[in-house]
Amino acid sequence: MTEPTKKDLLKDVVKGIDIKAHDVRPLVDAMADMAFQARNLGRAARIYDMMLADKDCSVIACMAGSLCSAGLRETYIDLVENRMVDAIVATGANIVDQDFFEGLGFKHYKGDIRADDDLLRRNAIDRIYDTYIDEDNLRVCDDVMGKIADEMLANGGPRAVSSREFIREMGAYLAKHHPNNRSIVLAAYQADVPIFVPAFSDCSAGFGLVYHQTKNPDGYIAIDSVADFRELTELKLKAGRTGLMMVGGGVPKNFAQDIVVAAEVLGHDAEMHYYAVQLTVADERDGALSGSTLREANSWGKVDLVNEQMVFGEATVTLPLVAGYAYHRGAWRARKQHRFAKLFDKTAAVK
Ligand SMILES: NC(=O)c1ccc[n+]([C@@H]2O[C@H](COP(=O)([O-])OP(=O)(O)OC[C@H]3O[C@@H](n4cnc5c(N)ncnc54)[C@H](O)[C@@H]3O)[C@@H](O)[C@H]2O)c1
Repeated sequence: MTEPTKKDLLKDVVKGIDIKAHDVRPLVDAMADMAFQARNLGRAARIYDMMLADKDCSVIACMAGSLCSAGLRETYIDLVENRMVDAIVATGANIVDQDFFEGLGFKHYKGDIRADDDLLRRNAIDRIYDTYIDEDNLRVCDDVMGKIADEMLANGGPRAVSSREFIREMGAYLAKHHPNNRSIVLAAYQADVPIFVPAFSDCSAGFGLVYHQTKNPDGYIAIDSVADFRELTELKLKAGRTGLMMVGGGVPKNFAQDIVVAAEVLGHDAEMHYYAVQLTVADERDGALSGSTLREANSWGKVDLVNEQMVFGEATVTLPLVAGYAYHRGAWRARKQHRFAKLFDKTAAVK
């Protein structure tokens, strides 16, 4: 039998779910009267809706895991475009390798968990569970990241910038070169929603930046993750009341929770995150951050106890329900666009 070719393997694209097309309100309301994770999910969806209905509340979305390759990218684009999120804290995989990657015009493909991984390796195909990626396309993404750093260097000289500032340049790049491709980075650039990726080099950005720094040993663009933390803390001080809409856990969860403590360190009496929802498969038994409950976060002074809800379930199932419920409830229609990215534009090359 002849082996499948690369073209055979990269045929069926992963399609993102359109939360606007499915009114899940009756389903989620019915689930809220069940037990276990169905009831938790119903309560989480209502808390997210409460965040959006509270005119004093700014929403910070936290993203870990491989959400954007799995068909949840469109959900986040809808959240950004419909004023359902005011700032994003994410992993580099989501923002660079998966979202920006598709913004450049590349795709994720349906694959098989029982695939012959050696065959994939020989065809330069990377696998995320049941999803395939053309590694040659990822190399292009790495290169574009290096080119953006080169342009920033040419336009402002060697310096350290926050990931937020770099990602804004990525938005400007997409607006210029790929304005018709939907993307979280592009939508956030257009709506002035800042995106923070605290571990920015742990993804395609890292490859591009290693190349950029090696080519320019005497002066280059570096990433200042403390600047990210400072800027996100400034955003908290400006925002006042905040709600966290978290998926997965990891660095984004801790980073966003910690800004309350950072504000205190700076001498401010900041309110704990008033609302918090986390959709995750991690549980609390290992004592690690990802599965630590939001009640536990209260002991650290980070999250208020009144409106918090953990949902233990995989995000491709849980997020469309929670986000779709809030979308169709429509509280976002009366929300203002905070445009928090403008808080920091004084330091950005893109005006
Ligand atoms: N995921 C990738 O394919 C990938 C690719 C390149 C780089 N990276 C880098 O690796 C680091 C960690 O990545 P990570 O966030 O993928 O892994 P992670 O293991 O740190 O995930 C964090 C937590 O989120 C939970 N989680 C993950 N996916 C979930 C889902 N679908 N539903 C519910 N809960 C979920 C996990 O159980 C875990 O507790 C980041 O810096 C990222 O940029 C990841």
